[in-house]
Amino acid sequence: MPHPINPALQPNTLKISILGAAGGIGQSLSLLLKTQLHFPLKTNSTQRDKNHIHLALYDVNEDAINGVVADLSHIDTPVSISNHSPATGIKDCLMNSSLVIIPAGMPRKPGMNREDLFNINAKIMSNLTDDIAKYCDLSKVFVLIISNPVNSLVPVMVNRLWHKHQDVSKNTHIERRIMGVTKLDIVRAKTFLHEVTIDADITPRSNDMPDVPVIGGHSGETIMPLFSQSRSYKSLDKDQLAYLIHRVQYGGDEVVKAKNGLGSATLSMAHAGFKVVNKFVSLLLGNVSEIHGICYVSLLDSEGHPTAMGMEKLLPLIDNCAFFSIPMTITKKGVTSVDYDIVDRMDDHERNEMLPLCLPKLKKSVETGSKFAIEN
Ligand code: NAD
Ligand code: LMR
Repeated sequence: MPHPINPALQPNTLKISILGAAGGIGQSLSLLLKTQLHFPLKTNSTQRDKNHIHLALYDVNEDAINGVVADLSHIDTPVSISNHSPATGIKDCLMNSSLVIIPAGMPRKPGMNREDLFNINAKIMSNLTDDIAKYCDLSKVFVLIISNPVNSLVPVMVNRLWHKHQDVSKNTHIERRIMGVTKLDIVRAKTFLHEVTIDADITPRSNDMPDVPVIGGHSGETIMPLFSQSRSYKSLDKDQLAYLIHRVQYGGDEVVKAKNGLGSATLSMAHAGFKVVNKFVSLLLGNVSEIHGICYVSLLDSEGHPTAMGMEKLLPLIDNCAFFSIPMTITKKGVTSVDYDIVDRMDDHERNEMLPLCLPKLKKSVETGSKFAIEN
């Protein structure tokens, strides 16, 4: 008897699609979601049914995704799972999805920067954007983009939806719900700061680790870890700060070098991605009405107006860069406000040295992505 790998969805199911699910990040993230997604199970069974979560896993590598889904489907958790590939079509994967997570695309090899991935990954992102436009409800769906270069691929998707799929994207405010995932930089900043400020023998790490907001983009100097906001800031000397900033900005290269041709960060990325997805699940299940976090988003809508509260104040502070990572509040409608004050709270080095290096690079990457979307 065939095993029920593509069960019919129960009513009131929260469906999460992962595109690129058979890759290094896709597999690890799918495992975390299948095993670790904890959501309050209400006592009465009718309510519990409303909280059902389904993972729809898609990859162009058919053999790989068949194996991954068969394997994960033996895990004894209530999260259900289905298998999708070009053989079965992406439609069934995307239809009725509330959250689409995209780690599809090429990772770096030593000697490459993230921008070197643009040509190949922008084509993949364009195709997936067309599928999302066709099969998802653009007035509701959230999209989390992990694939690199994040700085350009988020503009690719947003602009493609505005310009090539105007018929379905108009009046949906979809740009408020398309987020580049930069959480790994925040995870790194927290980890590296902890290593410098706390005795290395102290394990396990307490939950009280200092938190460092990382704003800007996700590549080299566009990554702006704001150690000035951490409680340990005053105990750091100039050399420690310089070391920490560089390590966060080039943490990805460390992993690419260590993997020596076998790819880039997958496990730490899955961990970071899981933290982000967990919050979105809470929001989408209705357990909370808003969540807070840092994502890379469009600050403008298709007509050039700021998309959420605080963006009109933020834009002049960042030389009108149209996409930026910044602490924000997110409701089911998408980003509703941003914490532009954080730019005022930066220290002199962050404001006068780091920001002027970040902005021109980030604006160039945004332009590359936006231009590609309009011309292709
Ligand atoms: P990987 O090569 O292991 O996996 C990528 C997967 O995407 C493969 O299984 C491949 O078959 C699949 N794929 C390719 N084209 C596809 C398409 N059109 N539709 C569906 N699936 C498709 O790579 P990885 O290590 O998982 O990394 C994936 C991406 O994530 C890379 O671009 C990498 O640079 C990026 N990344 C981003 C961050 C971040 O912080 N945002 C961190 C790490 C890696
Ligand atoms: C990372 O920061 O680890 C990712 O963006 C992957 C990479 O290419 O460095």
